[in-house]
Amino acid sequence: MARELIDDWDDIHAYGADYVHLCMRLKRLTGIDLSSYKSRQMHRRLQNYRSRQGFPDFYTLSIAIQRDGRQLDALVDFLTINVSEFFRNPEHWKVLSESILPGLIAYRNGRKVRIWSAGSSGGQEAYSLAIAALEAGGTPEILGTDIDEPSLAKAKAGVYSADEVKGVSRVYLARYFERRDEGYRVREVLRWAVSFRRGNLLVDEYPRDLDLTVCRNVLIYFTEQGKQRVLTGLAGSLRRGGVLFTGATEAVFNPSSYGLSQIHPFFYQRQ
Ligand SMILES: C[S@@+](CC[C@H](N)C(=O)[O-])C[C@H]1O[C@@H](n2cnc3c(N)ncnc32)[C@H](O)[C@@H]1O
Repeated sequence: MARELIDDWDDIHAYGADYVHLCMRLKRLTGIDLSSYKSRQMHRRLQNYRSRQGFPDFYTLSIAIQRDGRQLDALVDFLTINVSEFFRNPEHWKVLSESILPGLIAYRNGRKVRIWSAGSSGGQEAYSLAIAALEAGGTPEILGTDIDEPSLAKAKAGVYSADEVKGVSRVYLARYFERRDEGYRVREVLRWAVSFRRGNLLVDEYPRDLDLTVCRNVLIYFTEQGKQRVLTGLAGSLRRGGVLFTGATEAVFNPSSYGLSQIHPFFYQRQ
């Protein structure tokens, strides 16, 4: 079948032996399995990277990441698309604050509300969750996980430029951030509520008994099979009645097959 006719060219073997070699080495060195990511998209990105870095083929890039840890880190950082924002898609955060969080907080009856930001990038999502939960009267305990170390370092530092905090209202900026020479730094109240650690959604164990699992703008990069595996895990991370919050282009088409039911667009409750 002509390649143009295939919607998702989701097989790394379609791109030559040197590409497969690179994918296998990357998996061995980092646990990142590119065969679970949309291959056409990933291959195109990697090809741009390879030629910009001056490697004649994927074999030579593969040798470089084996020999030089800095080459490996640079490649992983490039591969993971880390774009994030505070309160991304504000209309969905309104639903979260007004219709979802009050019930989750009431269920815990004064105890900590357990929340996971899966694919937390630079921490904007996890800190937004902390603000939303605190504002709704809850005591949040939030875990952010990501595969990318530089993103995790940024999240832990919790310092953002004026441009990065543009999605935060003036009131919240004053309440939850302090002005520093280097930008806006999250206050202690957010630091206490949020922790970060490395986690690969395709390999590592998922947390359990959560009230709210947030996985946004991560599923879009996975193949259908990878997405199904991750959705099964995300659903399983929730307690009964817990809620999964997905990205604005990541509606779950068959929620019941994961034991979920849709309660609002992009919000799914565990049955
Ligand atoms: C586009 S960002 C989304 C950040 C945030 N959730 C948001 O919506 O603003 C995607 C993040 O997913 C992370 N990621 C990609 N593959 C992953 C995996 N297998 N396990 C964990 N995180 C992954 C990337 O490192 C990146 O930080």
